[in-house]
Amino acid sequence: MKKAPENIFPVFDRLVNRAEKEGRLKQHSKAIWMTGLSGSGKTTIAVELEKRLFALGYFTQVLDGDNVRSGLNNNLGFSEEDRTENIRRIAELNKLFLNCGIITINCFVSPTTAIRAQAKEIIGAEDFLEVFVNTPFEVCEQRDVKGLYKKARAGEIKNFTGLDAPFEEPSGESIIEIKTENQSVEESVVELLNQILPLIKL
Ligand code: ADX
Repeated sequence: MKKAPENIFPVFDRLVNRAEKEGRLKQHSKAIWMTGLSGSGKTTIAVELEKRLFALGYFTQVLDGDNVRSGLNNNLGFSEEDRTENIRRIAELNKLFLNCGIITINCFVSPTTAIRAQAKEIIGAEDFLEVFVNTPFEVCEQRDVKGLYKKARAGEIKNFTGLDAPFEEPSGESIIEIKTENQSVEESVVELLNQILPLIKL
């Protein structure tokens, strides 16, 4: 654990611990981290996934970009610096939820390898479950659920991910990839659920 700043005396070790809370909730807590372009389907999948998990008796919390940016992170924009700070705070939030025994389902563009590595570092590799919601840019643009692609094309939004700001695709053995283009939401959710269940069963 990093050293606390000067004159700060954390009491982590005196609190009811994570294992005790996981025991109460009868689950292992994890941070499910969905990354992908705006409109790729992260939130849609998260909403359905949470319903399924909750119905099975699991205790969960969805953290979503637009939600967090309308509260905790309402002072941040979309520069690289602000996105990094956005994800840093959210990763710290995940750590708190992990210590409460809760399964968090995160939906953040988290567009670069460095930003996701920062989240993984803060949360801890063993609890960080990276899910790439892989939907091609053209498909997201065609869906344009929030009308943002149209605005970005018209120059009304700057630093738009995939257009004039980067999206670096995640790769690697440990990453779960969900390709939404040719399957239903239900199929995507079941695919993900099947990977998650063995990890959260106590
Ligand atoms: S992140 O890059 O910092 O991880 P985050 O997931 O919190 O982004 O927020 C992304 C959401 O903000 C998108 O789904 C979209 O609705 C909205 N948004 C507004 N401006 C932008 C932009 N310039 N780039 C990407 N998303 C944007």
